Amino acid sequence: MLITGVSSGIGRELARQLARRARTLVLVARSGERLDALREELLALNPTLGVWVEQCDLSQPEHVDTLLDSLRRNLIRVDVLVNNAGMGDYGLYEQESWPRIHQMVQANMTAPLLLTRRLVRRMVERKRGGILNIGSGGGSAFVPGLAVYAATQRFLDGFTEALRLELLGTGVVVTQVAPGPVDTGGDEAAQPPEGPLAAWLRIPVARCASEALAGFERAEPLVYPGRAHRWMMRLAALLPRRTKRAVWLPAARRLRYGTAQLGPAHPESAPGLLLAGGPGNVRDEA
Ligand SMILES: NC(=O)c1ccc[n+]([C@@H]2O[C@H](COP(=O)([O-])OP(=O)(O)OC[C@H]3O[C@@H](n4cnc5c(N)ncnc54)[C@H](OP(=O)(O)O)[C@@H]3O)[C@@H](O)[C@H]2O)c1
Repeated sequence: MLITGVSSGIGRELARQLARRARTLVLVARSGERLDALREELLALNPTLGVWVEQCDLSQPEHVDTLLDSLRRNLIRVDVLVNNAGMGDYGLYEQESWPRIHQMVQANMTAPLLLTRRLVRRMVERKRGGILNIGSGGGSAFVPGLAVYAATQRFLDGFTEALRLELLGTGVVVTQVAPGPVDTGGDEAAQPPEGPLAAWLRIPVARCASEALAGFERAEPLVYPGRAHRWMMRLAALLPRRTKRAVWLPAARRLRYGTAQLGPAHPESAPGLLLAGGPGNVRDEA
């Protein structure tokens, strides 16, 4: 079993919960020290566990290739792939640095694609295996300040659902987990400022991991860990898009203007003028 993003948060907890059950765990993250510490911890939990540590920056496709080559050279078979590593940033899109955006796209989208592509073929040949993708409930919300992160999560959602259908009947299970707020005890710089519901929705990391694994064992297509989050996601799925936009509008205004209120003459109300080459178009920028 290979788990990415295992040096902290949900990935580390998944590894801890799997340590007593799995035969071999391949641990993937960038931080070598934290990987080594986790290996020691897991071996203390289960001395017979095979633990293989791979330090890898998943935002670099050539590093992913090196990781996969290393597994092949060392005859490590991966029956279950857990695409958990992910990164996010909070802020106005036009103010984000391009290298950071690119890194996010590579880590959240390209890496799961590459790993899945290289590992799933052998699973299909063996007629057994599994892909567990840890996405985010944020992928189906319109969260201002998380434009790129939300887009990468929506991508993962579409990929996972289609892949699951493609693999039906092959013996390979595909499950997506879309958590809400999880108390990982880590740096939450990627999260937007907390809304009033966050405290109600937040679950401990151990619960997120155990519900993810239980859902995967039941071959569920989609797991929303936490009862409150699950109900909120089901309810949100029934809402029209315009209602979702309205829900997030105050947060968007606070993000850009520092207040949820807007003055009457704001340029967002003048798209017709833009098409006509009026104020706000090229003339303004020249
Ligand atoms: N926590 C939440 O509230 C929450 C909610 C919804 C969804 N999620 C999703 O759940 C997953 C895990 O989140 P988390 O909160 O547990 O995150 P976290 O505590 O920040 O851990 C992220 C893990 O990913 C690894 N990672 C990040 N970038 C990497 C890269 N370029 N290459 C290799 N490893 C990388 C990190 O290790 P290194 O830094 O050592 O590389 C770390 O082990 C993410 O996909 C996230 O989108 C989390």
